[in-house]
Amino acid sequence: MSVTQPTEGAHLSPPGVPIPKVTMPALIDMKRQGKPISALTTYDYPTARIADEAGIDLILVGDSLAMVVLGQENTLAVTVDEMLHHTRAVRRAVRRALIVADMPFGSYHGGIPASIANAVRFIKEAGAEAVKIEGPRVELVRALVESEIPVVGHLGLTPQSVHRMGGYRVQARTADAVLQLQADAFALAHAGAGAIVLEGVPREAAEQITAALSVPTIGIGAGPDCDGQILVFHDLVNLTFAPAAKFVRQYADASALFRSAIERYREDVEHRAFPSDAESYHLPESALKMVRIEHDRANSAANESARQPLGHESNRR
Ligand code: KIV
Repeated sequence: MSVTQPTEGAHLSPPGVPIPKVTMPALIDMKRQGKPISALTTYDYPTARIADEAGIDLILVGDSLAMVVLGQENTLAVTVDEMLHHTRAVRRAVRRALIVADMPFGSYHGGIPASIANAVRFIKEAGAEAVKIEGPRVELVRALVESEIPVVGHLGLTPQSVHRMGGYRVQARTADAVLQLQADAFALAHAGAGAIVLEGVPREAAEQITAALSVPTIGIGAGPDCDGQILVFHDLVNLTFAPAAKFVRQYADASALFRSAIERYREDVEHRAFPSDAESYHLPESALKMVRIEHDRANSAANESARQPLGHESNRR
């Protein structure tokens, strides 16, 4: 790694001016004021820092980490320790956004005390400011909130339920299912969830639930009427190596950008065009002189010994 000078981040305020921190109550205020909430997943220091400096309100260290960063087939295998590791990196980068960590599959399935203990690790060891839980786990959400752990709920297409759902399918496609989704959202909000992610549901369902709830909804594949929107960072910049879902908008092609940068670097190395003299360190003049003198002395000694007649040994024969 190259050693770079630490630079002041651009962030949103000039140096010395405190940055207003996004908190869970601030998200509820944003809903009341009709201000859209921008949310994005990130999993490491550089992308979290860029997202924070770009003014994203909520950064989710999502368990999508398993797929987009770790190359796994679904989100099920990622562990609490892996999630903690990435949440810590994000924590170091972020000054303004609310940091939410996803509780991975299995980490909140072993009863309320064990689930609280896992959630506490995200707050205490990794610096998350809230955890996200998939599904209508109302009693657990209540217990977490009572333990001072803010919670974001997640309903609709919940990727940890991939086996039960039989794939990643749009949810709540019947009137009954919409009513159930709305009842679940109400129950979570009533239990203290500070926001609810609605994923992969019809726009009309999300619109109705958003209008009825006092806490913000954050949509992904849920249409434009939610209080906020979230995307997976790697989808946003085309780093996912798979056809994008209908709801994804690609704002950049980082895959093409990175590929071309890496190919040009490889070609430069192969043609000895990298590094240049200007990209090299140089000896000070005095040391250079000494090195040259030593080099010349060693060369002339070597030449001298090469000039010696085959000498003593052949004479002795
Ligand atoms: O893990 C994830 O990326 C999510 C989504 C809501 C974006 O849960």
